[in-house]
Amino acid sequence: MDFGLTERSPWDEDVDGLLTFSFEDEPSYLLKEVDKSLKGEIEKVYKRGEFKGKKDEVYTLPTFGMINPERLIMVGLGKRDTFTLDRLRRASAIGVKEARRLKLTSLSSPLFGEEGTSLKDATEAIVTGAILGLYRFTELKTEKKDDETPYPQRWVFSITKEVKKEAILQSIEEGKGLAESVNYVRDLVNSPSNIVTPGRLVEEAEMLAREGGIECKVFNREDIERLGMGAFLSVLKGSDEPAYFIILEYMGGKKDDAPIVLAGKAITFDSGGISIKPSENMEKMKYDMSGGGAVLGTMKILTRLKPPINVIGLIPTGENLPSGKASKPGDVVKSLSGKTIEIISTDAEGRMLLADALSYALRYKPKVIIDIATLTGACLVALGRHAIGIMGNDRGLIEAFKRAGEASGERVWELPLWEEYEELIKSDVADIKNVGDKSAGTIVGGIFLKNFVGDTPWVHLDIASTAWAEKEGPYQPKGATGVGVRLLFEFLKGLSTN
Ligand code: BES
Ligand code: ZN
Ligand code: ZN
Repeated sequence: MDFGLTERSPWDEDVDGLLTFSFEDEPSYLLKEVDKSLKGEIEKVYKRGEFKGKKDEVYTLPTFGMINPERLIMVGLGKRDTFTLDRLRRASAIGVKEARRLKLTSLSSPLFGEEGTSLKDATEAIVTGAILGLYRFTELKTEKKDDETPYPQRWVFSITKEVKKEAILQSIEEGKGLAESVNYVRDLVNSPSNIVTPGRLVEEAEMLAREGGIECKVFNREDIERLGMGAFLSVLKGSDEPAYFIILEYMGGKKDDAPIVLAGKAITFDSGGISIKPSENMEKMKYDMSGGGAVLGTMKILTRLKPPINVIGLIPTGENLPSGKASKPGDVVKSLSGKTIEIISTDAEGRMLLADALSYALRYKPKVIIDIATLTGACLVALGRHAIGIMGNDRGLIEAFKRAGEASGERVWELPLWEEYEELIKSDVADIKNVGDKSAGTIVGGIFLKNFVGDTPWVHLDIASTAWAEKEGPYQPKGATGVGVRLLFEFLKGLSTN
């Protein structure tokens, strides 16, 4: 989808549809203006109560040649005093999906400039919402469908002379880059494990590095063994599919600025291994590479928008399968940190590979380490589908993530890593074990990982309950959400402007 700016009014623009957003029971200034040309039709719609502007409400009016656009699409934002940027993302997606349903190929709108919201933030939210909303995963369907052409393809925003064009164009570029990176991740996560293999993730990383002009290094199984990543290795042993440790290095800052390291779990299929999962819903475990996907997507947006920071992406990737060669409950392995780990469940594999990724991250002497993973089913029980679980060892960092969560619409909720929980993973035979009892599943994952970061400021993001949507949302079809990219980028952007 292409976006542009015009100094003509949106109803004079040569487009199929005029799209507007309004607060509940408040026809916008623009609607009142257009209504002069529409002979009071909009006022009638409000009078009859056919459209009130409630959150997510949409109403389409044919314009019978009275203005240039053939249709006027009105989308509600809900009550003004409960407004958030996410309302705008939703409204934008609902509006463009309505336009697609009506086969409108071009749209116009005024810029959204309400008190308390900057034109830039609003424009970015509208652009992001639209591109995320139009996303569909159809690659693997052979039947021709009416959505072969993405509708609409062009959207122009009307601006007045006083508006800083450059700034708005930059917000458009940012919103577009972000949403396209999220959709890229959604494609990878929706693709099954026979297509998105660890090898395929290596190809993606190499392509991204080539196109974005950044460094990519790949360790294969022998390298992983030679380096002493015994925890990661213990997960890979059961599968015949080659596994890799992928490193992407984006150096947009000064050469000696300490980098931020992102580490993402990329298990392309998690059967549980010898501690095998029940077969019901097991097909979903193709999304166990969502953390690694989020890191890839974030590296992609960095290469596109080029903020002045250094960011390293670490993506340990492999499959977790049972076989005669697989790790068994009770096995003890030595991690890269030197700590020994007793494997109680081979299904708690994510923390094993992240343990080694975190130890490896320390080699960069990073300013901050962030890991992101579909780590625990318990996250769904604790927080449901609307929050990413966040845990960490640094108050300021966690607070920064809370702010980035609110701004990006990918909200985080903190769980404690109090020392009392450490008791749960004491092992009789090794330094630690990889699971606790039935309690505090998500926290135990965090407590385990905390053992591998030393004093480096670190946060752990558990996206097990947010990486996959069981139901369609306004800018989210069923399936992969591409969660993490917007949150991570928002956080990183904050660092580069400080
Ligand atoms: N990949 C799963 C976590 C998961 C479960 C993600 C459901 C998304 C949806 C992870 O590897 C796992 O199996 N975790 C175990 C941990 C347990 C053995 C301590 C779990 O959540 O049951
Ligand atoms: Zn597992
Ligand atoms: Zn897993």
